[in-house]
Amino acid sequence: HTARFTLDPDFTVSAVDPRLFGSFVEHLGRCVYTGIYEPGHPTADEAGLREDVLELIRELGVSVVRYPGGNFVSGYKWEDGVGPKEQRPRRLDLAWRSTESNQFGLGEFVDFVRKIQGEPMMAINLGTRGVAEAIELQEYANHPGGTELSDRRAANGDKDPYDIRLWCLGNEMDGPWQTGHKTAEEYGRIAAETARAMRQIDPDVELVACGSSSQSMETFAAWESTVLQHSYELVDHISLHAYYYEREGDRDSFLASAVDTESFIENVVATCDHVGARLKSAKTINLSFDEWNVWYQDGSAPTLSGEGRGDDWDEAPRLLEDNYSVTDAVVFGSLLIALLRHADRVKVACLAQLVNVIAPIATEPGGAAWRQTTFHPFAQASAHGRGTVLDVRPESPRHTTTKYGEVDLLHATAVRDEATGAVTVFAVNRHQTEPLPLEITLRGLGLGRVVEHSVLADADPDARNTAAEPDRVAPHPATGTGLEGEVLSATLEPLSWNVIRLA
Ligand code: AHR
Repeated sequence: HTARFTLDPDFTVSAVDPRLFGSFVEHLGRCVYTGIYEPGHPTADEAGLREDVLELIRELGVSVVRYPGGNFVSGYKWEDGVGPKEQRPRRLDLAWRSTESNQFGLGEFVDFVRKIQGEPMMAINLGTRGVAEAIELQEYANHPGGTELSDRRAANGDKDPYDIRLWCLGNEMDGPWQTGHKTAEEYGRIAAETARAMRQIDPDVELVACGSSSQSMETFAAWESTVLQHSYELVDHISLHAYYYEREGDRDSFLASAVDTESFIENVVATCDHVGARLKSAKTINLSFDEWNVWYQDGSAPTLSGEGRGDDWDEAPRLLEDNYSVTDAVVFGSLLIALLRHADRVKVACLAQLVNVIAPIATEPGGAAWRQTTFHPFAQASAHGRGTVLDVRPESPRHTTTKYGEVDLLHATAVRDEATGAVTVFAVNRHQTEPLPLEITLRGLGLGRVVEHSVLADADPDARNTAAEPDRVAPHPATGTGLEGEVLSATLEPLSWNVIRLA
C-alpha cells in the first residue's frame, strides 16, 4: 500500500511561470470595500488601503492580480472609477445586485498591485461595451502622454503610464448569466476585433480570450474551437474557470476534484492544438486558468459572518464569504498541484478571489484580518513552487469515487529550484482515514537532507479559522520523514496536504 515515484532532473514538465500564483480582485461583496480598501481603518495607508491586508497578501505571495471582474466587468464603465472621488458616480452593479460607489477604480488598483509587488491583469468589458471602450481604456492606462486620454490620467495624478501588459477580453461570455452574453460566433468576432485594435496601439500586449466557465458547460470545447477559429493569431491565452465543492456529503469525490481540473486542462490543450492544426499555424495558445477555487455555490458552506441577501442593491454586502475547512484546504492544495503538473501550458492562474469573497484572507470592517485554511497551501506553493516542474508519474494505491471512478490516493508534483538544486514535493493524501506511506527515489538530484515536511491535516477535518479563533488551523511538522541514500520515505496523514522540502 505504498505510493511511489521517481524524480530525475532530466525528466521535466516545464519552468513554472510565476504568474501561476495569481489572484483576483472583483468589485463583489467585500473584496474591495472593507477588504483591501477601507479608508478610516486603523491600518489604512494614505490611499485607504489596509496595511494589515497588504501584509497578508505579501505573505501569500501573489503575482498577478486580475481586476475588476468577473461578472462585474460586463457592466462596468472604467471611466467611472477615475478622477476626483467626490465626482465619481454611484451605479447599479447588475451582476451582484449591489450599488457601486466607484471610490476604488483603476488608479487605486494599480497603486494596490504595485504595493504588493504584483502585476495587473486587467479585464475589459465586452458585455455591454466593445472595441472603442477597450482601446480608450488601453490608451488611458498605457500611453505615455500627449493625447486627451493619457493626459487625463496625468491630470488625475498618475503621470507615468501603468504599463498593463496582460488583458482579459471580457469575462465568461459563454455564460447565460453574463450581462451581454454572446454566442461563440459573436464573441469570437468581437474578441478578434478587440485584440486587433489593441495590437494597433501596442503589438506586444498579452491577451486572454474567454474560454468556458467550466468544463460542464454544454457549449464546452465547441466554444473554444469557434472562438479560437476567429482569434487564434490575435490572442495569447484562452481562459478556464473551475470551482468545486462537496455535494451531498460525497467527500471522496470532492477530494478527487483535481481529476476534473486536469482533464479540463488537457481537453482545452487538445482543442487549442486542434484549431492550430486546422489553421496550419506554428503558434501555440497557452492557458490562463484565471478563476479557480473551492466555492460552495449552493450556499451550504458556513460563512465568515452572516451573509447578505444580494437582492437589495446594498453597498459592499457580505456575499460569497465561504469559511473554509481543513478538507477544503486539502482539495485547494490538490488544485494547485494540478496547475503545477500542467505548467507547460498553464502560464497564468488566478485564485478567485483574494479577500473575503471565496478568499484565503478574511477581514472584519474596522477590525482584524486573518488567514483562512486555504491561505497556507497557496503561500507554501508560491514560496517553494517556483522553478522547474519535474515529471512525476506516481504509482499509487487507488480507491473508487462516485463521481470520478477509480482515482489515485496520492496526488503529487515536485518543483526544482534551478539556482540551488533544492526540490520541493507537494502531495495530497486523498484518503479520509488511512495514512499513506510514500517512497520517492531521488535520482541524480544530489539531495542530502529533508529541510522540512510540513502538513496540513487535523483530527477534525471540518475545523476552520474564524474571527474568534484565527489560527485554529495551520500547518504542522510531520514526523518520521527521512532520506536514506537516494530514497525518501514519508507517511502522509489521512486527508492531508504536504510540503516536503529537500536540499
Ligand atoms: O468569482 C466569482 C464569480 O465567478 C465571477 O464573478 C465570475 O466570473 C464567476 O462566475
